[in-house]
Amino acid sequence: MVTPAHDRLLEAWIPGYASLARLSVSLLAASPLARPPGAEVLVAGCGSGAELVDARRLRPDWRLTAVDPSADMLTLARGKLAGAAPDAEASAKAPLIQWLEGTVEELAVDPCFDGALAVLVLQGLPDDGGKLRFLTSLARWLRPGAQVVLVDQMQPERTGMERQLITARRLFQGRAEVSQQDGEEDQPLGPLHPISLTRLAGLLEATGFSDPVPVFRALDYEGFVLKRLA
Ligand SMILES: C[S@@+](CC[C@H](N)C(=O)[O-])C[C@H]1O[C@@H](n2cnc3c(N)ncnc32)[C@H](O)[C@@H]1O
Repeated sequence: MVTPAHDRLLEAWIPGYASLARLSVSLLAASPLARPPGAEVLVAGCGSGAELVDARRLRPDWRLTAVDPSADMLTLARGKLAGAAPDAEASAKAPLIQWLEGTVEELAVDPCFDGALAVLVLQGLPDDGGKLRFLTSLARWLRPGAQVVLVDQMQPERTGMERQLITARRLFQGRAEVSQQDGEEDQPLGPLHPISLTRLAGLLEATGFSDPVPVFRALDYEGFVLKRLA
């Protein structure tokens, strides 16, 4: 069941979540194709609408398409957007958001996008072809040169300081350290399937993206910018 408590859970559970959407929107807004007024931007897995709120605030000119398979999440996001109009006049002039209930893999849209946000989405898809299908679909709907801001829980190397990140995140989440593999632990937001940076780079190469450029990190949550290659 999706309630506003969902947002509080995300903040309590994900290090840096409170500024994640603002960071992600700012990064995309600085990219060459999404910088011009009226750019078409895909918010893949918009969830309860955090990135949409910041996109509206920072770039009210963007033409936003919000995609999520969860009707509950879309309802929550619509409600949040309706109540998040810091400037009613600017908000009234902003293009309507296109809301699509479904996965990125099911998208059938026109036109192609100048940029996309995929925040905390890929991590929820199993690496059994699911991640590959998601990235392949994302690439299909992006113009060559369009950038994606991708944020996910990553699988650190299981040595030294990297291993310490997982322990630190569990403490952040108010949990005791456990000995399970990270991807197998109970997650209030559903099962996660974190992958290593090497695996991510391989999936991106296979789906027509550049190498991921690391842009921020909070414990084992990492943000990257990638570019759709020509
Ligand atoms: C952890 S939430 C993150 C939501 C939001 N981006 C945020 O950071 O608050 C992940 C969202 O991705 C959506 N999702 C899962 N698989 C998806 C897919 N294949 N295509 C688009 N969205 C998907 C889920 O329904 C969920 O709302």
